[in-house]
Formats: sequence, structure tokens, C-alpha cells
Amino acid sequence: MQILVTGGAGYIASHTALALLERGHVPVLLDNFVNSKPAVLDRIAALAGTRPVLLRGDVRDGAFVEQALREHRIDAVIHFAALKAVGESVAKPLDYYDNNIHGTLALLGAMRRAGVKTLVFSSSATVYSADQPMPLREDGALGAVNPYGRTKLMVENILADVAAADPSVSFTSLRYFNPVGAHPSGTMGEDPRGIPNNLMPFVAQVAVGRLPRLRVFGNDYPTPDGTGMRDYIHVCDLAEGHVAAIDHGHGKAGSHVFNLGTGTGSSVLDVVKAFGQACGKDLPYEVVPRRAGDVAACWADPAYAEKVLGWRATRTMQTMCEDAWRWQSANPNGYPD
Ligand code: NAD
Ligand code: UFG
Repeated sequence: MQILVTGGAGYIASHTALALLERGHVPVLLDNFVNSKPAVLDRIAALAGTRPVLLRGDVRDGAFVEQALREHRIDAVIHFAALKAVGESVAKPLDYYDNNIHGTLALLGAMRRAGVKTLVFSSSATVYSADQPMPLREDGALGAVNPYGRTKLMVENILADVAAADPSVSFTSLRYFNPVGAHPSGTMGEDPRGIPNNLMPFVAQVAVGRLPRLRVFGNDYPTPDGTGMRDYIHVCDLAEGHVAAIDHGHGKAGSHVFNLGTGTGSSVLDVVKAFGQACGKDLPYEVVPRRAGDVAACWADPAYAEKVLGWRATRTMQTMCEDAWRWQSANPNGYPD
């Protein structure tokens, strides 16, 4: 299939583009580079032996997207393009609603005009309401607590409404848990701008000496070691989940939702320890108060994705840390400009 990948130069999309190529699909990447760099294309090309088409533009530009869908005879779309920083979404909600909601509406309009019926959407575990028993199942209670999370929940609702009104479309929302790690080659990985918000990229920058020490946000949670627990999933497992979702969803009308996680929770200190083993040194950290808005624990029940998509995550925390370290140590400043 010819697959339009919005936000195609980003962290998860670039690994997914590679997985699509390995599966024999043809990804066409679209990005405005608000949070990525064109250099990632060289890395995909070196690994895949072929260079995907990259269209520079904005997913909110419906006419541009429609032209891309027609010109490249697109069969299906994977919609990654979004802003994703929770704290920034609280400070700049309009930017988030504009990019994430308006972007999706413009894309859906372009797909309708061009007759493209299959969409896979990047949703998030953040759509689940807090304080539910773990693991989280797809039919658990929903309720986002910040503007970023609300954009994801709103888009899921929009997709369900459109699919209910038009029985010819196939929309799949994938609720990612905590994507981490990098391609095992060490040539592709996560390249956050400025000081990372998320745990694994922060730890990686401590390991490489860019940051002095990790701040552990709280060790008084009701978890075995008191630190927050999350379901970290290797980005290559996640990428393969997208291929499975596209292969499953194409031609199957309706709206579908899947968790993409491992089903296992790891604590902050588990991650620090595993990363320390991967990089061969003890990583300095200090415990500071809890971060506002954090939950104690969050992990997936991935059984439905395994049953329906035939997909499950296979890579361990040790592999996630080793691959993240290979990427970080070979590219301490991320991708070149
Ligand atoms: P990322 O920032 O690396 O990728 C997003 C890409 O979209 C970037 O390349 C950015 O330049 C592009 N983009 C943003 N707005 C655009 C627009 N209007 N037009 C064209 N391109 C645009 O982020 P990521 O971690 O790879 O996340 C990808 C998707 O997965 C996002 O939708 C994100 O919300 C979702 N998600 C991420 C996580 C996570 O922890 N990384 C967790 C759950 C869900
Ligand atoms: N943590 C620290 N120190 C840090 C960063 C994080 O101790 O410097 C802790 C957090 O308190 C939490 C854990 O590490 O216990 C993971 O934090 P992340 O920021 O890496 O991930 P979150 O689970 O908080 O958030 C991620 C994405 C969100 C998404 C959410 C649910 O960043 O976009 O998962 O999918 F909404």
C-alpha cells in the first residue's frame, strides 16, 4: 500500500516508516518540521536502501493534503502529526487545539474528497481517567486532565462519530503507553528539543553528560519502591504495531481502538538501574517532590491487540535502554541541522 504518514519525520513515525518499508509498503512522509529535522530521511534511507518521498507542509492545509493523497495514490493514512508536550498544552491550549484538532479535521476532509478510507491515529494512554485498577483495558473509563489529553480524546470521539456516519471508512486509534528506545543501529532515535520532559531521554542525557543528574519526581507513591510506574514500550515494537493495525484495518469498516503497551509496569528506579547497566555507569539522581498531574502507576492490558491484530511487544527494558544508549552516545546532540 501507499501510505501517507503525517508527522513523518518525528520519533515514532520515522521508526514506523522503516517498519512499513520492511513490510513492503510505500510510506510518503509529510511534516512541517515543528519538532523534527529532515536529516532523519538520510538515516531511514541508509537502513532501508530506499529514500521515502518527504513532503514539507502542514497537515492543517487541507488542499495541500488532498493533493498529496491524489498525487501519490494513497491507500491509507497514519496520522502522527501533533504537538505533544503536556505542560506546554496547559500554557498554550489554543496552539494544541489548533494543531491537533484542526489538523485532524483538515486531514479527514482531504481524505473524504480524495476517497481515502483507512486511517490509523496516534492516541495515548492519557485518555484513560486516573485512579483505575491496572492494567488498563480499552473499555476502561475515559477522561483526560489536560489540553493535550483532551485533544487526543476529542479526536477519538470525532473518528468514532465519522465512522458511525459513514460505513465505508476504517478508523483505528492506537493508545500508546510510554514509547522509548531507539532503532538498534543507533542511527535513529528520539531527539527532544531543549531539556527533555520525559524520563528516558532525560536519563540518556544524564548518561552522556549533558545533564548533571536525574530528578526523581516523588518516592512516596503506593508502588513497590515508591516511584511512579509506567508501561515503557520499545519504539520498534510500537512501529510494528502500526503495520499490524494498517494491515488489519484496511478494508474493515468501523472504528477500532487498541492499547499498544507491554502489559508490564516499571518504576523510575527500575529504569535508572537498567540504563545504568546499559551504559556501564551509576547514574546520579536525587528525589524531589512529585510532579503535578502524575499518576502513581499506569500500564496496559495488551490482550486485545494480540487477539485481533496478532501483535505483541517483545523487546525488554534492557533492550530499550541499550538501544537508547547506542543512539544517545553516537548522537549526543541528536540529528544534525
Ligand atoms: P514527534 O514530535 O517526534 O512527532 C510529531 C511530528 O509531527 C513531528 O515531526 C512534527 O514536526 C510533526 N508535526 C506536528 N504538527 C504538524 C503539522 N501541523 N503539520 C505537519 N507536521 C506536524 O512526536 P512523537 O513522540 O513521535 O509522537 C507522535 C504521535 O504520537 C503524536 O501524535 C503524539 O501525540 C503521539 N503520542 C506520543 C507519545 C510519546 O510519549 N512520544 C505517547 C502517546 C502518543
Ligand atoms: N519522571 C521523573 N523525572 C523526570 C521525568 C519523569 O521522575 O525527569 C517520572 C515521572 O514522574 C513518571 C515517569 O518518570 O513517574 C514517566 O514520566 P514521563 O514524563 O516519561 O511519562 P508520563 O507517563 O508522565 O507521560 C507520557 C507522555 C505523555 C502521555 C502519557 C500517557 O509524555 O504525553 O505518557 O501516555 F500523555
